[in-house]
Amino acid sequence: MPKKHATRSTTQDASSERKTAQYADQSVMTGTGGEVHQSAGGETPVLTTEQGIPVADDQNSLRIGARGPTALEDFHFREKLFHFDHERIPERVVHARGFGVRGYFENYASLADITKADLFQRAGERTPVFVRFSTVAGNKGSADLARDVRGFAVKFYTKEGNWDIVGNNIPVFFIQDAMKFPDLVHAVKQEPDRGFPQAQTAHDNFWDFISLTPESMHMVMWIMSDRTIPRSFRFMDGFGVHTFRFVNAEGKSTFVKFHWKPKLGLQSVVWNEAVKINGADPDFHRRDLWNAIQMGDYPEWELGLQLFDEAFAEQFAFDVLDATKIIPEEDVPIRRVGRLVLDRCVDNFFAETEQVAFGTLNIVPGIDFSDDPLLQGRNFSYLDTQLKRLGSPNFTHIPVNAPKCPVHHFQQDGHMAMHNPTGRANYEPNSWAGGAGGPRESPEKGFHSYPAAAEGPKLRIRSESFADHYSQARQFYISQTESEQQHIADALTFELSKVETLAIRTRMVSHLLNIDQDLAEHVAYGLRLKEMPNPADAARPTQEHLQASPALSIQLNGPASFTGRKVGALVTDGVNIDILRALKTALKEEGGLLEIVAPYVGGVEASDGSWIAAVQQLQGAPSVLYDAVVLLPSADGVEELGQEPTARDFVADAFAHCKFIGYVDAALPLFSKAGVLDSRDDGCITLEGPEGCAAFVATCRQLRFWAREASVRYGARQGV
Ligand code: HEM
Repeated sequence: MPKKHATRSTTQDASSERKTAQYADQSVMTGTGGEVHQSAGGETPVLTTEQGIPVADDQNSLRIGARGPTALEDFHFREKLFHFDHERIPERVVHARGFGVRGYFENYASLADITKADLFQRAGERTPVFVRFSTVAGNKGSADLARDVRGFAVKFYTKEGNWDIVGNNIPVFFIQDAMKFPDLVHAVKQEPDRGFPQAQTAHDNFWDFISLTPESMHMVMWIMSDRTIPRSFRFMDGFGVHTFRFVNAEGKSTFVKFHWKPKLGLQSVVWNEAVKINGADPDFHRRDLWNAIQMGDYPEWELGLQLFDEAFAEQFAFDVLDATKIIPEEDVPIRRVGRLVLDRCVDNFFAETEQVAFGTLNIVPGIDFSDDPLLQGRNFSYLDTQLKRLGSPNFTHIPVNAPKCPVHHFQQDGHMAMHNPTGRANYEPNSWAGGAGGPRESPEKGFHSYPAAAEGPKLRIRSESFADHYSQARQFYISQTESEQQHIADALTFELSKVETLAIRTRMVSHLLNIDQDLAEHVAYGLRLKEMPNPADAARPTQEHLQASPALSIQLNGPASFTGRKVGALVTDGVNIDILRALKTALKEEGGLLEIVAPYVGGVEASDGSWIAAVQQLQGAPSVLYDAVVLLPSADGVEELGQEPTARDFVADAFAHCKFIGYVDAALPLFSKAGVLDSRDDGCITLEGPEGCAAFVATCRQLRFWAREASVRYGARQGV
């Protein structure tokens, strides 16, 4: 019987039927269905399967007949789909959205007097680091400008092992005991029945939990402040949060709190801007860091230490083991001991940013824990979650997690083991001689825990020294400028307006009454509460005598520089080339950037006939993407722009967000369209000649024209 299946001779192989096609710059081969085939040759290697078998056709699976079923024996197709189907690993249970970069830490001087940690021994020594910035609540694909705490985790690859400062951009936390962490995270994430809202605290469950957790009130002030809507990762603080110990060679312990201070200064956006940035560029923060590093504009932070002893801890008004409290810089000044420079983007996002595993338990000789109950719980949690997330106890074999110092131990096997011991000894003690016996402990070099005294009855109890929930919340609030206080009141009003249950809104106001009467009244007014509740019963009365700490304000600690910031220049054909050049020069001298926004991305023809390429098309570049804007249309060009709602928004938003606006007279119709022609103020600056451009850039050092805010703000305070 002849076989039913027609066999194809080699001359009938599909590859012999390819044709050449031209797609603009690309000359390609196409197959019988018009699909594109690109072949190996020259420096282009041959595509293989994971088993190393060369692949002839990566466009078509193996079929029985041109329109028939796919053959099960197609090992290439099977392997490709198999691998793809398993590409994802679980996202982090918190801090899922993050961005990692590499760099180094450099000491200013030896810290041998306070710690024997090897990385701090020698002035000028550099230790490689990996840093991951993150948001806490949102899923991996959420937007960067969520109102949220930012993670600031630093892994130091020291010569004596990996040390991680797994910190945040806020120096306090919501809870005092790690036992409450699952409740906090459940409450903040999407509500379990409906699966939303995404990356937001503005919902009932969060505020229900918070309003029944008075220890969180200090953190509430921080998260409702502009700290949770930073302009860039480059313009925010980092904090180790907990009290740690330094231990020197003599075994003397000093308590330490870690701070990261950005060299570019602090800066945040305003809430209305954050909401719009999330639409215009959900990757705003990661793009900003990526671009800065790609341009060689490496962001830097200084490592600051607050050092104190038992005697200070004893007399300090709060417990240094309570992670809901700070030690004001005015009480214990910050000593700056080195700089963190981030100078390299990752080569592969998954391999490094996704797979990096930080943990508070990763410490090195010379550094130790305190008994902060939150820290103690974290020390358990990170290792536990990473086994689940990375799928194997061998995650230290992944290059981003592997120490850069010699590693010798008897741990073995497990999924994906990459560094496998050789030889016979996989236990100790053993009697195999010399190197054959494997590594041994070292009392001299090894890690010794600080012998802190600890004894007492076994109790489930919260220390009474943790019971003051409002005093530092009040101190934070009174340390803010009036504009920052308004932002806090507005944020609370916004968030609680999204809470459907009136009782929860009211309960929150009852706590605010223990922080600041004025704040509580403004929020109550903004919510239109019919009746003011009584203040919540406080475990300890608010200490109203605590002085303001100016170091806690962002606006009071601005950088007085426009370095690292960006001006968006809205241009049309006929743009005044002299002004454009002068601006570029002034910004370059300041260390800032000018980005051209035009009606068409192809660019515009300038007044001298030269061609100016645009980086952005107007539709895709609202003014929220810039720190300041300049309006440089020509008299003809402005007419076309006037037809564009996005041009009107460009100006109206820049004005409403208190940005500095530089302009030429031809731009006046745009102010008019935006409805702010007669509202122009000292933050709106005409650009005349090179001196005018330099003066504009110098004015931009104030970052925002806050004096305008009262006139453009629509918030809880209006009418009060
Ligand atoms: C001061 C309080 C805390 C801070 C500053 C903090 C900071 C961080 C940071 C920065 C990350 C992201 C790490 C990364 O980029 O890979 C993270 C992840 C995480 N944190 Fe915390 N956290 C705090 C409290 C806690 C507590 C109390 C727990 C549990 C008891 C906890 C459990 C976790 C877990 C499970 C992850 C995910 C880790 C991973 O999958 O790699 N955190 N935390």
